[in-house]
Amino acid sequence: MTRDPLLQPFQLKHLTLRNRLMSTAHEPAYSEDGLPTDRYRLYHLEKAKGGIAMTMTAGSALVSEDSPAAFGNLHAYRDEIVPHLKRIADDCHEYGTAVMIQITHLGRRTNWNKADWLPVLAPSPVREPAHRAFPKEAEDWDLDRIAEDYATAAERMQAAGLDGIELEAYGHLLDGFWSPATNFREDEHNGSLDNRLRFTRRVLDSIRDRVGADFIVGLRLVADEQWDKGISKDEGIEICRRLVGTGQVDFLNVIRGHIDSDAALSNVIPVQGMPASPHLDFAGEVRSETRFPVFHAARIADVATARHAVAEGKLDMVGMTRAHIADPHIALKLSQGREHDIRPCVGATYCLDRIYEGHEALCIHNAATGRELTMPQVISPTEGPRKRIAVVGAGPAGLEAARVAAARGHHVHVFEAAPDAGGQVRLAAQSRRRSELIGIVDWRLAQLEAAGVQISFNTYAEAADVLAEEPDFVFIATGGLPNTEILEEGNALVHSSWDVLSGDLSATGRVLVFDDNGGHPGMQAAEMLIEKGAEVEIVTPERFFAPEIGGLNHVAYAKALHQSASRITINMRLIGVSRNGNELVATLGSDYGERTETRAVDHVVVEHGTLPMDELYFDLKPQSRNLGAVDYKALIRGEDAFPARNPDAGFTLVRIGDAVASRNIHASIYDGLRFAKDL
Ligand SMILES: Cc1cc2nc3c(=O)[nH]c(=O)nc-3n(C[C@H](O)[C@H](O)[C@H](O)COP(=O)(O)O)c2cc1C
Ligand code: SF4
Repeated sequence: MTRDPLLQPFQLKHLTLRNRLMSTAHEPAYSEDGLPTDRYRLYHLEKAKGGIAMTMTAGSALVSEDSPAAFGNLHAYRDEIVPHLKRIADDCHEYGTAVMIQITHLGRRTNWNKADWLPVLAPSPVREPAHRAFPKEAEDWDLDRIAEDYATAAERMQAAGLDGIELEAYGHLLDGFWSPATNFREDEHNGSLDNRLRFTRRVLDSIRDRVGADFIVGLRLVADEQWDKGISKDEGIEICRRLVGTGQVDFLNVIRGHIDSDAALSNVIPVQGMPASPHLDFAGEVRSETRFPVFHAARIADVATARHAVAEGKLDMVGMTRAHIADPHIALKLSQGREHDIRPCVGATYCLDRIYEGHEALCIHNAATGRELTMPQVISPTEGPRKRIAVVGAGPAGLEAARVAAARGHHVHVFEAAPDAGGQVRLAAQSRRRSELIGIVDWRLAQLEAAGVQISFNTYAEAADVLAEEPDFVFIATGGLPNTEILEEGNALVHSSWDVLSGDLSATGRVLVFDDNGGHPGMQAAEMLIEKGAEVEIVTPERFFAPEIGGLNHVAYAKALHQSASRITINMRLIGVSRNGNELVATLGSDYGERTETRAVDHVVVEHGTLPMDELYFDLKPQSRNLGAVDYKALIRGEDAFPARNPDAGFTLVRIGDAVASRNIHASIYDGLRFAKDL
């Protein structure tokens, strides 16, 4: 019998949760037309297989049709959802995992210009900056129908066999009434705390009328908005007490902060470089004040902190949400004494930023998550012969290919020209704020070591070295080099963003950063330069700056820019650079006209992606069995993707990651996984 506090069961009413780990509500935007179909189901099922005690499905499943989806939210207002949820519940129950769902009316936290183009509404017409919605003030008939919608949605969830529901009450409609920042009404819904809780109580009453006393109903609620004009800590704890006092609620899932802007949201859902578990003690306070079951999640990314949270009585259930996106098998690995095998969540928040950009949630370094239909979370050993695999390059693509090939049971040899593994990930991890990225590399190195993979560092592999291995399969994961040769004049006068990230250029003075990529490298270079004291101007030909960086990742860069005398210039592109004495003169043009401008600066940094290091690939290509070709149609169908164009040759060749074209970490990892998983 294990003594690990995290693995002890928790009794929630009639429901026994098998351990203390849960995944809190998060909409991964895997829904199809608002319904949780197979992709959604398999995503949750994987966590059930991985031993999690409870998975809170959806994130903000919509109770009312007039509350349009902000990011692929489930339609809890439709009867058709019931069989889909039932399948998820049945499948997860088979593995011993409880399944609940978060339901809500988004209030002002969505857009009016979609779905049925109905007005967004809120207690008062206070704009929500994040969604740019100007809500109408909810009228009596709105509240009548929405209370009814909550009840009907709850009934559907019960009919689907779910173990319970959670009402979202932070930044949405319900808590909009509680907060002095968003409630300016002059009716019975404002004034005293009881007045502000009136609508929430009505919703709870109408839900209980339909689902009865036994069905589990919880609240994910803000208990301190950390906002001078919002709900204070004392008032928030009093709200918790009063809602517990209704006897209608079975658990509190505690939130601290407000979420109406990216900057505010990043304090509720902290990203890498921000403090870990910042609200854990506060959640513990709510627990001791209310003596009620308390759940909580906010960057509790490692099991040691989670264990501490339970052992010290701060939480009953620990939300490790992104941690389970990175590794859905945490509880299983813990129970098997394989804590070291847990793939770490590095806080990159690529997952969440993607849904706000209209994409589905994907983990920066687990390419199987959300792709359980086609990609394995657990690599099973091959039943075929043990092959000899050569991997050239130990960046993210090469490390992932080597990890997966080794897990298949093959003999793997990795060649790396540098003294260390990691490639561009190691470079990005140079700044303290993004240093956690190195977990992507370190976890894979540990997996390779455990599998007995040979890695030859400081080895610039040539074709002869690879052929000497007599390989069956060769991965070229040699990455790329910065492409700065893009100017009409003065290419030799500029630095690349890598020069800054690596520390080779430690510039102060006036620095112009031309970002013609839109992702992290240019912004990270700018941030590092600002930290060194440089006066930075970011120039971009885009309509927005850094459009490939999502809202939460944007916050740290925006803070750095804001705290300095730096400038951002959009709609301009760097044309050339010339020398004028000790200075450089940068000439800027625009896609929108002929006029040019100049800047006198001390340094110019250019970020324009990378060009592939592909010499070795082209050397090996004529000798390979597939002549380097990949049958993309077969790859997409999950079939053998390597045509035998040169059938007598001994090895198959594939190029992955930035050795193909300039992309990102996820693309590299996905390449490594999908080309190695069937070897
Ligand atoms: C992709 C994604 C979508 C999310 N959507 C919701 C949501 O709809 N409702 C909600 O209450 N929280 C949502 N969250 C927040 C999580 O429930 C959780 O509070 C947050 O990720 C912090 O916990 P963690 O550090 O364990 O990941 C979302 C998180 C992610 C990563
Ligand atoms: S993308 Fe980053 S934050 Fe999200 S789960 Fe993966 S490692 Fe964690």
